[in-house]
Amino acid sequence: MAHDLEIRAAAAVDFDAVVELLSRASLPVEDLTADSVIGFLLATIDDTIAGLIGLEHFRETGLLRSLVVDPAFRRAGLGRLLVAALESQAAGQGVRELWLLTIDADAWFGELGYSTRQRDQALDAIRQTVDFTSLCPGDAVLMAKSL
Ligand SMILES: CC(C)(COP(=O)(O)OP(=O)(O)OC[C@H]1O[C@@H](n2cnc3c(N)ncnc32)[C@H](O)[C@@H]1OP(=O)(O)O)[C@@H](O)C(=O)NCCC(=O)NCCS
Repeated sequence: MAHDLEIRAAAAVDFDAVVELLSRASLPVEDLTADSVIGFLLATIDDTIAGLIGLEHFRETGLLRSLVVDPAFRRAGLGRLLVAALESQAAGQGVRELWLLTIDADAWFGELGYSTRQRDQALDAIRQTVDFTSLCPGDAVLMAKSL
């Protein structure tokens, strides 16, 4: 049977599911609210949330955050699809450079065109995000890509 894959913007009502998926992957949730997840992108398969990704937007710079694919749906291209959808949404909003922090997906993001940056190269606004302040510098890799 064919499965129905959809990428759609999150609504406030998706908040609990978003937090649950991120928590299970040990990604930061402490700053999220039902309002702030509106606009996160969700990948749904037959109406089940299989993955998600978020954007924080600071003029021409964006922070890609909260990328997670449910372990049951990994290695099927969903992560890559979510990143591509976020990049095109961000570019449409005037973002020229996307930054991110990751604990262990740096090789994966490298394949998608992201390269490692030093912490002192990041904008102050990026350095004040919860990804930046909650992930230990020794553990997390900072990366960026021009759109
Ligand atoms: C990183 C993550 C989002 C990838 O999601 P995914 O849906 O499995 O990724 P995709 O299937 O789109 O991956 C695309 C390619 O990477 C490969 N790949 C995926 N996971 C991999 C892994 N752990 N190791 C090596 N290669 C991997 C896939 O085989 C695929 O390659 P192919 O098209 O040549 O076969 C997912 O592993 C995850 O949720 N990790 C935990 C949270 C996290 O680290 N988030 C990033 C912090 S912002």
